[in-house]
Amino acid sequence: MTVVITGGTGFTGTFLLRSMLARDPGEVVVLSRDEPGRAHGRLLRALDALAAPSAVRQAARRQVTAVQADITRPGLGLPADRFAALAASMTELWHCAADTTLNADPASLRRVNLGGTQNVLALAEAAPPGARVRHLSTAFVAGRRREGLILEDELDDSAGFENDYERSKYDAEVAVRDWSSRTGRPVLVLRPSLMVHDRPAPAGVPDHQIGSLVSLLARMRAVHRRPGREPLTVRLPGRPDARLNMVQVGWAAEAMLEASARIAGRPAGAVTTLHVVHPQDTPAEKLWRLAAENVPEFRLTLGPAPADPNFLERFAATYFQPFLPFAWHRRSYDRARLVSALPSGHRPGPLSFDFLFAVLDSPRIERPHPASAERRPSR
Ligand SMILES: NC(=O)c1ccc[n+]([C@@H]2O[C@H](COP(=O)([O-])OP(=O)(O)OC[C@H]3O[C@@H](n4cnc5c(N)ncnc54)[C@H](OP(=O)(O)O)[C@@H]3O)[C@@H](O)[C@H]2O)c1
Repeated sequence: MTVVITGGTGFTGTFLLRSMLARDPGEVVVLSRDEPGRAHGRLLRALDALAAPSAVRQAARRQVTAVQADITRPGLGLPADRFAALAASMTELWHCAADTTLNADPASLRRVNLGGTQNVLALAEAAPPGARVRHLSTAFVAGRRREGLILEDELDDSAGFENDYERSKYDAEVAVRDWSSRTGRPVLVLRPSLMVHDRPAPAGVPDHQIGSLVSLLARMRAVHRRPGREPLTVRLPGRPDARLNMVQVGWAAEAMLEASARIAGRPAGAVTTLHVVHPQDTPAEKLWRLAAENVPEFRLTLGPAPADPNFLERFAATYFQPFLPFAWHRRSYDRARLVSALPSGHRPGPLSFDFLFAVLDSPRIERPHPASAERRPSR
């Protein structure tokens, strides 16, 4: 058995590998743009940072091989015989690699996320017919649909997209569906929402997306320090009752592997799509309260865009730009099919204040007084 994983060195990939290696998957090949020794080293450091059990770390040394490959190149940039041998040995493919920068150049997003997916599907097509294909998409392919319930089967671009990342992931899902119907091979498409974890990642270890928001808050704070003075109100455009689906990445990785194993034993549908999301959306207001704990100099509010923005509001409008549209979202995601694919009771823990505090807490935010680091929000 050989599992091939793209993006195994990334944020989600390392959590997936941690869970996968605990299940003894056989040989695992990680495709990375990096030189193999360095890619393997990055992976081992990430597993150390996740405090992976020693059996998992040993398995990572023994069973994981890194192969230098670029998904944007035809044949993944591998010599033809290497590509053919990799495909022939492959029993399972996890395609996790992507450019996840929300505001990256559209052509580059398309090249990596759509073109890369097509090149990875060519590897799957060259594999034995029974090889399982798992494609990591995102709940955000729902794009600019800001209200209502998004069904797991839905794939609809009529509302448009909040950014070019979403569009490129939508296009990749369309390509996966086309490929499956052309080749008759089933695919499991997994759509996580925003995955988070409660430990700051050490330097060089991949971090969650929300880490860049936390860094931006720290920059805002550096721009405007007001020690001992009243908090400054920063009015961000959005609705006060906005909500966002966030899910613990450790649980999401377990759920994806569990669903993958259970679905494998069923009669194959063409494409099965699962929303790997938390059963409860997180109110933006809860996040703001926690951010206020971490950055007491600011009072963040959501409402109409201010007509007379102060300089911090202008700063936020520029640097928070990729994240701001989500402050208008109130949609939620159907997860009935995910639930039916999991053992009963397999659900993530609540996103408690303590958990979310740890998500937003970070060494990136330098605290003004040691005492404020001790405070926890009241419930
Ligand atoms: N993070 C989230 O909250 C979230 C939510 C929903 C869906 N997703 C989806 O989950 C997947 C993983 O996301 P992530 O946040 O974990 O990603 P990430 O941390 O940004 O990692 C991206 C990975 O993609 C690989 N990669 C990028 N370009 C490549 C190329 N040209 N050739 C080969 N590998 C390439 C990188 O490997 P090297 O640097 O080693 O080459 C890296 O391992 C993506 O499909 C993303 O759309 C993520």
